[in-house]
Amino acid sequence: MYDKPYHNDILNDKSFLITGGAGFIGSGLVEYLLKYGAKKVRVLDNFSTGSKDNIQQHFNNPHFELMEGDIRNPETCREAVNGMDYVSHQAALGSVPRSINDPQTSNDVNITGHLNMLVAARDAGVKRLVYAASSSTYGDHPGLPKVEEHIGKPLSPYAITKYVNELYGDIFSRTYQFHTIGLRYFNVFGPRQNPRGPYAAVIPLFVEAALKGEAPFINGDGETSRDFTFVENAVQANIKALLLPELKQHEVINIAFGERTTLNQLWEVITSLAGVQIPAQYRDERAGDVRHSLANIQKASNLIGYKPEFSVHQGLKLAYDWYAANLQQSAV
Ligand SMILES: NC(=O)c1ccc[n+]([C@@H]2O[C@H](COP(=O)([O-])OP(=O)(O)OC[C@H]3O[C@@H](n4cnc5c(N)ncnc54)[C@H](O)[C@@H]3O)[C@@H](O)[C@H]2O)c1
Repeated sequence: MYDKPYHNDILNDKSFLITGGAGFIGSGLVEYLLKYGAKKVRVLDNFSTGSKDNIQQHFNNPHFELMEGDIRNPETCREAVNGMDYVSHQAALGSVPRSINDPQTSNDVNITGHLNMLVAARDAGVKRLVYAASSSTYGDHPGLPKVEEHIGKPLSPYAITKYVNELYGDIFSRTYQFHTIGLRYFNVFGPRQNPRGPYAAVIPLFVEAALKGEAPFINGDGETSRDFTFVENAVQANIKALLLPELKQHEVINIAFGERTTLNQLWEVITSLAGVQIPAQYRDERAGDVRHSLANIQKASNLIGYKPEFSVHQGLKLAYDWYAANLQQSAV
């Protein structure tokens, strides 16, 4: 992965803080930046959902620095941004069901932690902060494909937290002229996404089931659809947004592939990659889930020159091969 650069700038005079850099998307960014010679890549993570395994390949790299800490602590955020040119803020508690079970912790990490990072980055005068927003902000808006300016009511505490991130982004731009970019990710998947635990995402769960020869659960009738986005596309968007030379206001942009795949189609592709034929088991829809999701990615193309390079099929093949190699080692 990351065989092709998505930037024209020289990176060896630039330092980057990646919050949540031990997580799935954050560790992809770390890999990219170190591969292309960034002067410094600092990770701030408390390992609540991320893992040292995701970044340990860089521990001996002199350009890499690990800071174990929590974004809920403002002082930690200040220390983390110190000396950094760019901030990619990925740390948050993901998952709609997690936020339904424990809305307070999701609120503390995703809203207070986000605000702490905005204040710290503003005060340190960083050149750019890009943060992880979410397609969950579209909530109950029925329109498809989703365009940035038309959102509905949030359907979960998680969606509220991600919407509040955007509201703060807007206020920091208007009040302090600190302009940031929020990337509304649509179901990102790929190597290193955690298949374990009660809040695992659908693709790792399906791949793990296929590798074990088991039937996965599908919530609802399987015709629920998502705009599944391979992680390298999300990393490309982050790099382009971070290095965008000029920004006049807060911006929010959809980051997706721009194609809809149903859960039934997804299971079909994964079973064919695994060479098995197993019918899925169906159960009730999950609270807080939206029925369909599909992004219009025109704004991302216009604003930052985003052009997703990996289709869902290409991404699924890469993800499948990674899980097959890595999960089998740990005796699935
Ligand atoms: N994966 C997706 O499909 C998706 C979709 C929309 C938005 N997002 C957002 O993208 C970001 C990255 O998601 P991901 O899928 O890589 O998740 P992840 O759980 O793999 O990564 C999140 C990282 O943040 C760290 N973290 C959590 N709380 C922290 C805290 N209090 N202090 C410091 N570090 C903390 C975790 O340990 C983890 O390493 C998150 O903000 C998430 O809400 C992800």
